[in-house]
Amino acid sequence: MSYNLLKGKRGIIFGALDENSIAWKTAIRAHEEGGAFVLTNAPVSIRMGQIDQLAKITGSEVIPADATSEDDLKNLVEKSMEILGGKIDFVLHSIGMSINVRKGKHYTDQNYAWTQKGTDVSAISFHKVMQTLYKSDAMNEWGSIVALSYMAAQRVFPDYNDMADNKAYLESVARSFGYFFGRDKKVRVNTISQSPTATTAGSGVKGFDGFIAYAEKMSPLGNASAIDCANYTITLFSDLTKRVTLQNLYNDGGFSNMGVSDAVMEAFIDKQ
Ligand SMILES: NC(=O)c1ccc[n+]([C@@H]2O[C@H](COP(=O)([O-])OP(=O)(O)OC[C@H]3O[C@@H](n4cnc5c(N)ncnc54)[C@H](O)[C@@H]3O)[C@@H](O)[C@H]2O)c1
Repeated sequence: MSYNLLKGKRGIIFGALDENSIAWKTAIRAHEEGGAFVLTNAPVSIRMGQIDQLAKITGSEVIPADATSEDDLKNLVEKSMEILGGKIDFVLHSIGMSINVRKGKHYTDQNYAWTQKGTDVSAISFHKVMQTLYKSDAMNEWGSIVALSYMAAQRVFPDYNDMADNKAYLESVARSFGYFFGRDKKVRVNTISQSPTATTAGSGVKGFDGFIAYAEKMSPLGNASAIDCANYTITLFSDLTKRVTLQNLYNDGGFSNMGVSDAVMEAFIDKQ
């Protein structure tokens, strides 16, 4: 169903690797809602993934950019405004990567070169994206910028490893930069804290199957899917949420406010 929530709006969507990606679903929904946008990803992910297929479906162009490279980001923002014919209204940062997670390095035994790389890709890149947009005055007033986070920023999930610290950093950047973006350009900045979701990045976390099943049983509404996340993101890009900013917003079926659920208790009750 379409409500034309993004009619006439222009955007940049980072992080669509394949059809499971949250960014992929968001691009599909943004297109259905009448938005025009540029798709971007790291060059290697463009080669490995299926972004060209998404570009075809949504009538979008793809501009490669490593989100850790200021030059790439500057080029991306300039070209996007040329292609779309004006300033930007919405931006999705849907990027995350930890080499420690990928290579099975334990949190208490980190390779710090990998830690730094992960922080650069997963958190500092969000600052770089916003600084590039801010300095080139590329955002329209009442525009909206969203990044995706996870609750390991607030609570302990041991296998989430150094990504927990990266998400805490990411959420802090949203608040800190969001202040200046709001004050100076009337642009809002938020993070959505999403349920565990079966994607390439998500499934890379050790014990992911247990993780996602536990969250499902703990949440009164069950886990939020990638399409649920896409829909929520669209509302934040729309004009219906104009004064929501500096927030970390949970899209998690209620998980974050639960202590325990009947379904989880069941596993621990002595059945004799
Ligand atoms: N899947 C989950 O369980 C879950 C839960 C909460 C939050 N998130 C977050 O959602 C976001 C999207 O992840 P996803 O689950 O859709 O997985 P995904 O693997 O489909 O997307 C991650 C994206 O990051 C991109 N990326 C990596 N390095 C990059 C770089 N240097 N420059 C530009 N792009 C780069 C990848 O190419 C990929 O497209 C991430 O921030 C992730 O941490 C995911």
